[in-house]
Amino acid sequence: MTDIQELLLSRIRDVADYPEPGVMFKDITPLLADPAAFTALTDELAGIAQRTGATKVVGLEARGFILGAPVAVRAGVGFVPVRKAGKLPGATLRQAYDLEYGSAEIEVHAEDLTGGDRVLVVDDVLATGGTAEASLELIRRSGAEVAGVAVLMELAFLDGRTRLARALAGAPLEAL
Ligand code: PRP
Repeated sequence: MTDIQELLLSRIRDVADYPEPGVMFKDITPLLADPAAFTALTDELAGIAQRTGATKVVGLEARGFILGAPVAVRAGVGFVPVRKAGKLPGATLRQAYDLEYGSAEIEVHAEDLTGGDRVLVVDDVLATGGTAEASLELIRRSGAEVAGVAVLMELAFLDGRTRLARALAGAPLEAL
């Protein structure tokens, strides 16, 4: 493990039985409150944005906003929020995806992603991959290219990586 990985891991708090019994919640608020750790995380993710030639960073509501916005600024590219349905005022593209029980929908402003864009999706956690997969589908439907997906943590036992493979179409999935 690198020094940066050790620093990041040391600032993620495991919370047992939250938000429901049997779930181990990964709380990133200690990392956000530590300027050295938050800066290191931002720099790592911005490096991925630059290496993948991203022209836009998409952040997934809500923690993907906190991580993605400074990454976009650091990388010198635009930031685009992908929101839970019903929160964006303009014309949107909307994508449904399956949850363990039921389904959910996310949206992006149609004008924010265009055919010339290469888009890096940033989020805190890749779990089942449902949210990230739906965001990649939004990017594809916008006509933009997928530069990749970059997350702080991958819960490998849920195998979101396999679920994302088709939508990534060879683009990288990087988990710090
Ligand atoms: C969490 C997390 C990812 C997503 C990962 O967000 O921040 O966005 O779930 O899960 P998946 O890979 O199984 O789709 P959540 O939906 O809890 O939203 P929040 O950040 O607004 O609380």
